[in-house]
Amino acid sequence: MPILVITGTGTEVGKTVTTAAVAAAAVAAGRSVAVLKAAQTGVRPDERGDAEEVARLAGAVTASEVARFPEPLAPGTAARRAGMAPVHPQDVAEAAAKLATEHELVLVEGAGGLLVRFDAAGGTLADAARLLNAPVLVVASAGLGTLNTTELTARELRARELELLGVVIGSWPGSPDLASRCNVADLPEVAGAPLLGAVPAGAGALAPADFRAMAPSWLSARLDGSWDAEAFRGRVAP
Ligand SMILES: Nc1ncnc2c1ncn2[C@@H]1O[C@H](COP(=O)(O)OP(=O)(O)OP(=O)(O)O)[C@@H](O)[C@H]1O
Ligand SMILES: [Mg+2]
Repeated sequence: MPILVITGTGTEVGKTVTTAAVAAAAVAAGRSVAVLKAAQTGVRPDERGDAEEVARLAGAVTASEVARFPEPLAPGTAARRAGMAPVHPQDVAEAAAKLATEHELVLVEGAGGLLVRFDAAGGTLADAARLLNAPVLVVASAGLGTLNTTELTARELRARELELLGVVIGSWPGSPDLASRCNVADLPEVAGAPLLGAVPAGAGALAPADFRAMAPSWLSARLDGSWDAEAFRGRVAP
């Protein structure tokens, strides 16, 4: 699995923090890692983007982004409004493939959810994943509403003949409500793919050394971690 595309059920679901955890676990397992933000929106040139945030938390990873646009909008809209050239799926695929020649694992973080548009032709992260023939990891929110958006995302991946590696809960609450606790059993059902981890809420605020030490305990063996889905489900089941 040299390239892994990381999407989410929406924006603000914890893709970046999850990407950092996956990167940290891979680094701890001795792999060289690069992270590529397909299109960074809503940051000024001097601000830290998602890829840099991953590097801050995960440590020794190569961080890059294909392009950045100032307004916090879908990349295609942000590019158009800024009068800048948009990012095309081909650009994302080329940048990821290049990083894969120099790293054992390349994590490609999308912007928002799977079908957010990158260019005027309607190109998306799904098109980039298709060009790369790369598996996709879906980061999902924990609570009410996540079953619908997770299943929609999984169905779209399947319709495009993309491999859904699994689902990670991007922010597992300290005091999970009933919906969150039930969703641990239901998410893999609706996704038709395994639950591969749960990143605790607040993880992004940990000191980087603590984040790196703990990241493998949030992720399953498929993602270089030691997290046990069965045990977790048993522990949180209502
Ligand atoms: N597990 C977590 N621990 C701490 N903070 C979190 C966690 N998950 C999400 N957050 C916070 O929630 C916000 C959104 O998370 P994040 O940036 O990872 O979302 P995203 O899915 O990457 O969004 P985008 O579509 O903008 O890339 C951030 O402020 C982040 O710090
Ligand atoms: Mg992000």
